[in-house]
Amino acid sequence: MKVIGFSAGSVGREGNVDRMVKAVLDKSGHETEFVKLTDLNFSGCKGCVQLCAGPQVCKLKDDAQPYYEKLMDADAVIIGSPVYMNTVTSTASAFIERFFGYRHVDIQIAGKPFVTVVGGAMMLDTAQENLRKMLGIFEVDVISSIAFKSSVPPCFKCGRHRECKIGGAYRMLGDAAKDLTITKEMFTRWEDDRETVAAIDAAGEKLNNI
Ligand SMILES: Cc1cc2nc3c(=O)[nH]c(=O)nc-3n(C[C@H](O)[C@H](O)[C@H](O)COP(=O)(O)O)c2cc1C
Repeated sequence: MKVIGFSAGSVGREGNVDRMVKAVLDKSGHETEFVKLTDLNFSGCKGCVQLCAGPQVCKLKDDAQPYYEKLMDADAVIIGSPVYMNTVTSTASAFIERFFGYRHVDIQIAGKPFVTVVGGAMMLDTAQENLRKMLGIFEVDVISSIAFKSSVPPCFKCGRHRECKIGGAYRMLGDAAKDLTITKEMFTRWEDDRETVAAIDAAGEKLNNI
């Protein structure tokens, strides 16, 4: 059994989404591979359907291409994304769009077990729902959906939150953001949230039983 996990988590560090995807992989008890989508250079589907419709293989040559083969071969898949612009990141969405190459006349991944993971401060339900809707086009079997309300806006790292009235710190705290000192503790971690830990354990258990 092989489980492959993809994360569109922030580049240059191991954020909550990366760690959640890795944790579900670990708990699955199977052979696993972790892929950080934000370290790859790739685009969404470019609509060259005349190329993929016959062979049922996406023909776009970029960093993502080898991973579609691996995804087809895997017994289960995990997809993780932070919330950007109130929904799934374009990175995760672009990656999923390319499943289209494997969906002509039949759907090669129909019925494959998937676990979805999202992290962000707001609109987690919307992001989760949109992720499920995208995956629904490919008729995969979403066996678990995990969401962690991380409340860690990029503003906690940018150093300009005191002067900014449009970023996450101000949106969450209002005028109090002007006097806010960013501390290590404000970078909330899914590992400290009992509900998320339980959801990750349960997803791992389900994967373990496939
Ligand atoms: C371009 C951009 C847009 C974002 N938009 C949202 C948003 O609409 N809602 C939200 O809750 N967080 C938003 N965020 C914050 C990210 O969700 C947050 O940084 C993410 O949870 C970090 O994930 P990580 O811990 O896996 O690195 C945005 C971040 C960036 C860089």
